[in-house]
Amino acid sequence: MTGGDADHKRALAVLVLAAGKGTRLGGGDDLPPKVLLDCLGIPLIEHVRRALAPLGAAETVVVTGYQAEVVDAWLEDAWSDARRVLQEPQNGTGHATRIALDALPDFDGDVLVIYGDVPQLLTDDLRHLLDAHRDREAAATVLTGVVPEPGLLGRIVRDANGAFARIVEARDATPDELALTEFNTGLYVFDAAALRPALAGLTTDNDQGEEYLTDALTSIAGTGGRIEAVCSADPRSLLGVNDWADVAAAVATLRRRICDEHMRRGVRITDPDTTVIEADVEIAPDAHVYPFTHIGIGCRIGAGAKVGPFARLRGGTVLEPGAEIGNFVEVKGSTVGAGAKAKHLTYLGDAQVGAKANVGCGVVTANYDGKRKHQTVIGPEASIGSGTILVAPVEVGRGGTTGANAVILPKDGVPEGATVVGVPARVLPAKEQAEDGDSPAKEGSG
Ligand code: UD1
Ligand code: MG
Repeated sequence: MTGGDADHKRALAVLVLAAGKGTRLGGGDDLPPKVLLDCLGIPLIEHVRRALAPLGAAETVVVTGYQAEVVDAWLEDAWSDARRVLQEPQNGTGHATRIALDALPDFDGDVLVIYGDVPQLLTDDLRHLLDAHRDREAAATVLTGVVPEPGLLGRIVRDANGAFARIVEARDATPDELALTEFNTGLYVFDAAALRPALAGLTTDNDQGEEYLTDALTSIAGTGGRIEAVCSADPRSLLGVNDWADVAAAVATLRRRICDEHMRRGVRITDPDTTVIEADVEIAPDAHVYPFTHIGIGCRIGAGAKVGPFARLRGGTVLEPGAEIGNFVEVKGSTVGAGAKAKHLTYLGDAQVGAKANVGCGVVTANYDGKRKHQTVIGPEASIGSGTILVAPVEVGRGGTTGANAVILPKDGVPEGATVVGVPARVLPAKEQAEDGDSPAKEGSG
């Protein structure tokens, strides 16, 4: 495959370091490895993969270690063109880079090293770094940022002329070095020929007793290689995830970014601050999302549809044009037809709702029998009365009506055009329907 930015440039290899444990997340047994933590429907590392993809790298190597079999299984499925190498034991970022580069013994060109825990990363950040490296013909280039208090991040030490001198980890730093505000983002480009010998010479002479990738820069400088430290104008997107506060911050940024993209394309979102739209959701322009609404990964929402306030569309839900899902409605694994409505206090699970059907207040599709999930089909223009329970698998025919609080059993369903009432529901004879005038369903809600 051609494409990406690599065409007219030197060859590019990407090394993604993802072997670390994520110690600061506490870690219970059921916690996935850090890079697989969910971030708006996709793992942290999938965000990284997506930022990298437009670069069109010739080679990608991902280093796994902690819970490698879990990360490998994900990679095999979702990032199958990446090579996987196992780092065992995890002896630091320099060690990880060394074994990754060993997987590409003949590679010559630029090596982009990045950590797997930077979900907010933008392709433009990477391009900025690569362009700077190539324009200045550096042997190594590190992307830096400035924040008032870089906390545990490595500090960039510069000499009297402002040129890069070295990176010192916070735990190894003197008080003066700790006061520096320029930090190492953990994104680097190296000339492969300079990087190989530098990695071979790394020591573990530091507080953690690990091989630090950052020391490779000092070593390259020591042999006369040109090192550039390029400062990013907005380093927020480069911050790695180390603890739960970082996870929340990343989710907040990405969530806002996704809402902004939809709004720029014509989707009306009343309050993006309280709206969660996960990755890969398609919303037609002219749909309206109201506050406190959660829309799961891969949902598709048609033009003129309305969702919320306080609605939850779980992953993969489809709302056809003009469908309306209102407050305290959960929709899972379902398709809601054009102009159909479910506006209050309802659960639609594994349901197909036909066009222009009306689902009243407090309707429940009882889709789970304790072992398996079953489908509910609600025909076009059906009217489901308030409090109806549809025990799946069950079908309501076109234009069928259920009375308030009806319980529809699988074997019965609702015949086309019929009105059913009661528990379990029985078909209301045509005579009674005529006498009542109004069908019981009309007591429900619209
Ligand atoms: C690292 C940098 C620090 C920088 C910070 C930015 C070093 C020595 N320090 O510190 O200067 O400011 O990132 O976030 O590089 N990993 C492995 N194998 C290992 C160790 C780590 O693959 O043996 C991976 C981790 O999974 C993680 C990344 O490398 O994705 C960074 O490791 P981490 O331990 O988080 O480094 P920091 O202490 O944050
Ligand atoms: Mg880190």
